[in-house]
Amino acid sequence: MPTVRTIREQTGGERLTMLTAYDTPSARIVDEAGVDMILVGDSVGNAVLGFDSTLPVTVDQLASHTEAVVRGTEDALVVADMPFLSFGVDTAQTIENCGRMLKEAGADAVKLESGPHTVELTEKLVQLGIPVQAHLGLTPQHVNQLGGYTRQGTDEAAAREIMDLAQRHEEAGAFSLVLEHVPANLAAQVTEQLSIPTIGIGAGPDCDGQVLVFHDVVGLSERTPPFAKPFGDAKSEMEHAVDSFVEAIANGEFPADEHSHVEEELDSLY
Ligand code: KIV
Repeated sequence: MPTVRTIREQTGGERLTMLTAYDTPSARIVDEAGVDMILVGDSVGNAVLGFDSTLPVTVDQLASHTEAVVRGTEDALVVADMPFLSFGVDTAQTIENCGRMLKEAGADAVKLESGPHTVELTEKLVQLGIPVQAHLGLTPQHVNQLGGYTRQGTDEAAAREIMDLAQRHEEAGAFSLVLEHVPANLAAQVTEQLSIPTIGIGAGPDCDGQVLVFHDVVGLSERTPPFAKPFGDAKSEMEHAVDSFVEAIANGEFPADEHSHVEEELDSLY
């Protein structure tokens, strides 16, 4: 059963796996497949709640989805992704919000979209007993500042900044680092330099692990990012099931005898 400690030590060998999940049935599927970590991503905003970005997601929503995921998980480490502005504005509020994910929702750790502003915060949370997963490269909560979901770390200065921040978050006590949408050769060097595992998404094959969004993996997303790959076609399966239901009602095939029950003494009531 993966723990923050075993994950922290899993570098360079067997690859780590992480997938998002937002509800009990999908968490059960992911957990039973032996995935090491389940991320209750703020991508719940796009994937499930119909928002255009992750920005509107609230602490209450993330806590509620985390509780649902925890109910469906036996083995995987559950990481709650802290929503936009739920951290970094006020330290006491940050601790309360992050602590709530562990105390109330049952998560094992939190993830913070990281930057210079989260180094001290990471240290403080770790000191208090809240394990932190850092996240560098494309941080979707900065979409307005970045002007889109663009590649990051593509020139030398930007790449050096990512390396520097990665090292500072490791020193601050982060147990792993998500690297999103950065050049594969940069991710490889960050992975080489760090002693905590890197988990890549759009960061090439040389990270210690890989993460994707559940809906992208099963083929249920409206739009899939260029670095993701659908490994199934759940949307077609679901459409087929719903079409078949509608057809079965129309042609009287459902409900059949086995879906109904009859009480003989009620035969001649009227
Ligand atoms: O919210 C999310 O799903 C994420 C992953 C893409 C890493 O942050």
